[in-house]
Amino acid sequence: MLSLLSLFTLLVSTEAAAVRRANTNPTVKSSKLVAVASDPHLTRDSGGSVKWGSRTLWTYRDTQYLNSDYQPVNFFSSSASYGAINSDGSVPFSPVPSDQPDGYKYPAEYDLTGDNKNTSFYTILPNECSEDGNQGGNCYNGSRYAIWEDYPPLVTEQSGTITGYTWVKRSLIEFLTNQIPNPSATLYKVTGTDDQQALPTVSVIDEEFWQVDQFAYGHYGNLVVDNVAYLYATNENRDIALAKVPIADIEEKSAYQFYVGGEWTTDQPSVDDTSAYIDIAGGGQGTFYYSEPWDQYVWLGQPGGCACPEFIVSVSSSPEGPWTSPSHVIDVPPGNYTGIGAYTMQAHPEFTPGPAQNAIYVTYTQQYNNTPYETPMYLIEWN
Ligand SMILES: *[C@@H]1O[C@H](CO)[C@@H](O)[C@H](O)[C@H]1NC(C)=O
Ligand SMILES: *[C@@H]1O[C@H](CO)[C@@H](O)[C@H](O)[C@H]1NC(C)=O
Ligand SMILES: *[C@@H]1O[C@H](CO)[C@@H](O)[C@H](O)[C@H]1NC(C)=O
Repeated sequence: MLSLLSLFTLLVSTEAAAVRRANTNPTVKSSKLVAVASDPHLTRDSGGSVKWGSRTLWTYRDTQYLNSDYQPVNFFSSSASYGAINSDGSVPFSPVPSDQPDGYKYPAEYDLTGDNKNTSFYTILPNECSEDGNQGGNCYNGSRYAIWEDYPPLVTEQSGTITGYTWVKRSLIEFLTNQIPNPSATLYKVTGTDDQQALPTVSVIDEEFWQVDQFAYGHYGNLVVDNVAYLYATNENRDIALAKVPIADIEEKSAYQFYVGGEWTTDQPSVDDTSAYIDIAGGGQGTFYYSEPWDQYVWLGQPGGCACPEFIVSVSSSPEGPWTSPSHVIDVPPGNYTGIGAYTMQAHPEFTPGPAQNAIYVTYTQQYNNTPYETPMYLIEWN
């Protein structure tokens, strides 16, 4: 016979189960353009962000200052900014400044601040064509070390000395073609405090943490589960592989395990070992995160190998997968600058858009007619 107490427990747990029922088929209820993320002094592309103490930290690729005529000057391979978060997790929007160029039509601005001092956030190393203080990695023979981060820092410590790590591929490009199909990758450490005005400090842990023709685990994205970092990588063909390491041991290569043939091993696979490829579609830039309302891990991003103006989504109940085959989320305006389109689709789970939180802010990069690059921000509400 059911006692009153167990009946109560039953009711409560049924309700909890209903709230946390895994959503493996996300569909969109509504989406709208809400803002542009911008430091109006800069033009730059490929922004992504993480929670950084009580703020957000944004990292971008190629950056230039805008002079008073909106002409780009100076050039550096990466930059960073702080943004604010309201104490309830919502986004503090500001009015768009009135002196913006034509075609700059946004309902609001999300302000990004911080002095980059015309210097690459992720240091261009001495053997990456940084001669004469060159901050773009441009070599005298016309090729370029494109020290472009693919993902914002993995934050391992949110208080005291806030600490993050980023793996950046040492890509050598010529006319945007990779000269080294699977380049080595540098591990950078990013540190700062919550109250400092200066941007965080970046140091180099290992110039070649991952070697040429190894997966550059961590460059493509990460999930942190119970203080273990799950680190994703792609090879030149956009096959995806996975490693894991306790977040306290990120600097210790011997502490890493690799997901090969459906099992964890300490033997590091080569970049062409097909048993290291995990079942996750997508392959363009995107963001991994955990969705509480869905009780699922989520990858939200762009289809691989194109500058398609589209967000797609895939979910899984564990970082290893299996991940659902990606489904369409929203189309976004691509900009109209020849050959550019839309890219670096990112989700921003550090913002909590409302009480139900069954919603997510996303951004991407677009460019109109050779004006500054823009980072439009959309709010997607899910069913
Ligand atoms: C691109 O869009 C901008 C802003 O709407 C407009 O001023 C410009 O004429 C367009 N350029 C082309 C080539 O369509
Ligand atoms: C960076 O460059 C801009 C534009 O040339 C200039 O206004 C600014 O003072 C420079 N900042 C530093 C720290 O050199
Ligand atoms: C151009 O110069 C860089 C830096 O010295 C070098 O690494 C690269 O191999 C050179 N590229 C060609 C095509 O020679």
